[in-house]
Amino acid sequence: MDDDFSQPDDSRHFATVIYREAQRMSRLIHDLLQLARLDEKSCQQQLTLTDTDCNAALQAAIAPLRKQAAEKDQTLTIHLPQNAPKIKAAQDLLEQILRNLAENAIKYTPEHGNITLSCLASSTHVSYQITDTGIGISTADLPRIFDRFYRVDKARARQSGGNGIGLSLVKFLVELFDGTITVQSIPDQGTTFTLNFPRISEATKQ
Ligand SMILES: Nc1ncnc2c1ncn2[C@@H]1O[C@H](COP(=O)(O)OP(=O)(O)O)[C@@H](O)[C@H]1O
Ligand SMILES: [Mg+2]
Repeated sequence: MDDDFSQPDDSRHFATVIYREAQRMSRLIHDLLQLARLDEKSCQQQLTLTDTDCNAALQAAIAPLRKQAAEKDQTLTIHLPQNAPKIKAAQDLLEQILRNLAENAIKYTPEHGNITLSCLASSTHVSYQITDTGIGISTADLPRIFDRFYRVDKARARQSGGNGIGLSLVKFLVELFDGTITVQSIPDQGTTFTLNFPRISEATKQ
């Protein structure tokens, strides 16, 4: 506020910092509100779960992230099953689950890395795997990453715009759709998140 704006480069620099921080806070508030709303039993009851196309959800989730991955020269590979399987979910929230995990994969993988997103279907279940060749997570941190506000490296997480809410939301939503989430990771090699949901069988639908 005290700046005389005689140094446009400095002013621009600080405006950029302020803008980035404002965006970070906006994301934080958005996530907190969503978490608070979903905690309400009444909201969960209001949620209508419909037959959701798992392939379409994955494609929609990653569409806005392709640019981010390209900027880091990362390869995004997608594997989808032939007959798009369906699960009972809310499409926008299933997309949010997948987008959160894909965003983390991009964020915590250095330049030139690989990110693979697969959807696999058995007769009874649909699973997703999100695999990256990134920094990984230590065995000590693994059990805590689904906790609210937990970040492995607080300085780095802050710099990358994180707030540690993403994975707690993801786990909450996965369980809302009767699913499970597991994680495997090797530091400096990469991480795989696996989701598993009950599949709506084509036979029982008729
Ligand atoms: N794919 C990944 N590779 C390495 N670390 C990860 C990955 N996904 C999540 N993490 C770790 O788990 C923490 C929690 O993730 P999340 O809840 O999404 O918070 P953030 O807002 O920091 O991304 C992250 O801060 C990071 O340390
Ligand atoms: Mg995150």
